[in-house]
Amino acid sequence: MAPVTILLLSTLLLLAVLVNAADLYKALELDRSASEKDIRAAYKRLSRKYHPDKNKEKGAEDKFVEIAQAYEVLSDSTKRQIYDRHGEEGLKAHEGGGQHHANPFDMFQNFFGGGHPGQQTRRGPTSVSEMEVSLADMYTGSSIDFMVKKKILCDHCRGSGAASSDDIHTCTGCGGSGVKIVRQQIFPGMFSQAQTTCNECGGRGQIIKHVCPHCGGHKVVDHTQHYTLEIPRGMPEGQEVVFEGEADESPDWEAGDIVLRVKSRKEKGSFRRKEHGLYWRESIGIDEALLGFEKNLTHLDGHLVNLKRKGVTQPGFVQTISGEGMPIYESTGYGDLYVEYNVVLPQRLSPETRRKLAEVFHGHAGHAKDEL
Ligand SMILES: *[C@@H]1O[C@H](CO)[C@@H](O)[C@H](O)[C@H]1NC(C)=O
Ligand SMILES: [Zn+2]
Ligand SMILES: [Zn+2]
Repeated sequence: MAPVTILLLSTLLLLAVLVNAADLYKALELDRSASEKDIRAAYKRLSRKYHPDKNKEKGAEDKFVEIAQAYEVLSDSTKRQIYDRHGEEGLKAHEGGGQHHANPFDMFQNFFGGGHPGQQTRRGPTSVSEMEVSLADMYTGSSIDFMVKKKILCDHCRGSGAASSDDIHTCTGCGGSGVKIVRQQIFPGMFSQAQTTCNECGGRGQIIKHVCPHCGGHKVVDHTQHYTLEIPRGMPEGQEVVFEGEADESPDWEAGDIVLRVKSRKEKGSFRRKEHGLYWRESIGIDEALLGFEKNLTHLDGHLVNLKRKGVTQPGFVQTISGEGMPIYESTGYGDLYVEYNVVLPQRLSPETRRKLAEVFHGHAGHAKDEL
């Protein structure tokens, strides 16, 4: 073979390996720099989406299997390293020819701790909490990052609680059934049978020889996860935002949801909201109340609203400014702004002012002795 051909061949081989290497990441919609957490999160999201019990689209099952196989390799740091360096071929060599894939359905079940999404599964508790955001965020729309402390399945033992799969033994006391049949002699030659929970394994049917060092056998570990809450413009008060399957994980259940009930923070001296109406209290001086005024009110997003009155404004008067309320949720347009005027009288009057006012109101100047 000519040297050129050899070079070409090896380039092709290398290319093939690289293409393969990209594929497992592609199956999880990740790039090669993905963290362990990213991989977990991607598997969690995509395996639910393509589970054939849930997704009846053509090709969903193939995709589901592909996702499971990708996760199987990438979630295992040793396998991932081999795969990154030597591709699929490297993995095959590592596993002694041929690849042994875990059953994708078992894997799904282990991951979520329940059965298939179509079946009746035990669900973990749903966590409901209130989240206060600023009214300005609800006015303009925004996204807010927040953190949640929760339990996740231990990555090391994948929720078994054992140091390795070799450390999980079928309980010899009950043969794995978790119950023991106790025979008691009532009379000579007469026995009764009773079923009791196996005392050796506590009814689990398994004995763990060496507990997982990562989680101490608890099967779950503490974890702080970041989320982003999307706040749409004009989001209604008390709206619930659901983060599906993001509550505490456990091998005994399919994780429940995190539900956030979103409300605007009450701030003194700021705008108040009622549905898509906004309320504002504006203080004016007695001169403004009598003579009229023009001023600017800074709105939630910083734009200026012109407040203008000619003539007398009574205390408690409410001026309606149309189109300056909250944005109407999932629609166009805005509600109205209601400005209530609060008239503030001066603490005291100078003799000069007093004299002038008396002249205005009574047609003569007040006497010096009337002054305070
Ligand atoms: C209100 O804002 C407008 C626009 O910036 C400005 O032209 C006007 O002078 C302001 N009026 C008052 C009373 O400050
Ligand atoms: Zn563990
Ligand atoms: Zn037992």
